[in-house]
Amino acid sequence: MNTPHVRLGVIGAGNVGRAFVEMLTDESRQIALLDGATAVLDLVAVAVRDLDAARVGVDRALLVDDALAVAARDDVDILVELAGGVEPARTWIETALRRGASVVTANKTLMAEHGTELARLAHENGADLLYEASVAGGIPIIRALRTSLAGEKINRVLGIVNGTTNFILSQMTSEGRDYAEALKEAQDLGYAEADPTADVEAFDAAAKVQILSSLAIGTALRGEPISREGISAVRSVDVEFARRAGYVIKLIGVVERVGEHGLSRRTHPAFIPVEHPLAAVHGAMNAVFIEGDKSGPLMWLGQGAGGAPSATAVLGDVLHAARNRVSGRHDVPFSVDDRLQSVDAGELSSVFYLSLDVRDEPGVLAQVAGVFGRHQVSIQSMEQSGFGREARLSFLTHEVKARDVASTIEDLAQLASVDSIGASIRVIDGGVA
Ligand SMILES: NC(=O)c1ccc[n+]([C@@H]2O[C@H](COP(=O)([O-])OP(=O)(O)OC[C@H]3O[C@@H](n4cnc5c(N)ncnc54)[C@H](OP(=O)(O)O)[C@@H]3O)[C@@H](O)[C@H]2O)c1
Repeated sequence: MNTPHVRLGVIGAGNVGRAFVEMLTDESRQIALLDGATAVLDLVAVAVRDLDAARVGVDRALLVDDALAVAARDDVDILVELAGGVEPARTWIETALRRGASVVTANKTLMAEHGTELARLAHENGADLLYEASVAGGIPIIRALRTSLAGEKINRVLGIVNGTTNFILSQMTSEGRDYAEALKEAQDLGYAEADPTADVEAFDAAAKVQILSSLAIGTALRGEPISREGISAVRSVDVEFARRAGYVIKLIGVVERVGEHGLSRRTHPAFIPVEHPLAAVHGAMNAVFIEGDKSGPLMWLGQGAGGAPSATAVLGDVLHAARNRVSGRHDVPFSVDDRLQSVDAGELSSVFYLSLDVRDEPGVLAQVAGVFGRHQVSIQSMEQSGFGREARLSFLTHEVKARDVASTIEDLAQLASVDSIGASIRVIDGGVA
């Protein structure tokens, strides 16, 4: 029997695209690729913007500069979109899906914004739309959720899904750097962009939370924003307090069931107990920790970015899509549980850490305690450290609603004796059975 051929068109030969093409053409992988795809994979075109740029590992004869034409080509069975951004990537992908070609993408921005309708379009046209590399780069979390855990009720997902912020917080924790020093180091090492906003203000993490919740767990909440807090307000004194209290600070993405039909999706810095597996995720690594109803806790750890790790996830998707094409099948998208209601992050209770710089004078503590009391925020522990005419008060509360903490902070800011208020940070409970 003749081995079938599946033809690939790639858009993008940057960090991920070039690594993907190198893996695809690597002689030592050919038997594994043939086994995985049950087909011979033929690379027919690689679209880029600049045809003249030097590109090691990519056959120049395959390069073209019209990406839309690659998406529209009748002989492309699988379009591999590795350029990024919403447009024109969305148009390329729709063009390929409408003519029944499958699509593999690493594009988190596009999938977070339009993933649900693109998945529907793929299904209507009998094609696959696969996007493993869009969340946590090289960690195969979407496939694991969709296959091995397909029948499991996932109660909570906690993810360290942004390597840049994990690197910054790790440097603050292990090397005692302050935020600005750690950010500069991340920029010097190429982990952070010159404009780090997307990472440090958690836009990137929020897009991954959106994909994890809507496309991996089947809990689309259309139009409902993800509650988002970044790490730029975290100071070294907060990191130091956390350490003394038995925690490390991490930026986490959370998808959590609340009661029967509630779902919270958010990203924020959190105090993680040192004994929790996520506390041991250092540097630019990513991890996803899942609490399943029957499976109990599960965790994946790996490189969340980088051309080669992300390209392995792309290649896995391409083999899966090729195998499906050979057998005339495609994956059916997750059905969406439309009974789920988004729960406002302000309504959720947890233990909170907060700290204030106050004037070191008699009566200040009573004023501060009075504000906490008015908002029913009860205090579990307090630490006072003096420096000159100022004192820093650091608190851990009992379980309180985030909304009450926010109104406490608003009122504290009105007190003449309060000079500044630091970050308020949630404490994540253990979660390990
Ligand atoms: N880098 C990572 O670690 C990582 C990890 C996970 C997911 N991703 C995702 O993977 C995608 C690619 O990321 P990357 O880091 O590889 O980006 P990149 O290095 O900037 O490469 C982008 C590639 O797309 C090409 N391109 C852009 N616009 C194009 C257009 N209009 N027509 C034709 N080609 C076009 C560029 O061509 P030129 O080379 O000619 O400019 C370049 O080759 C993004 O969606 C990103 O979010 C990246």
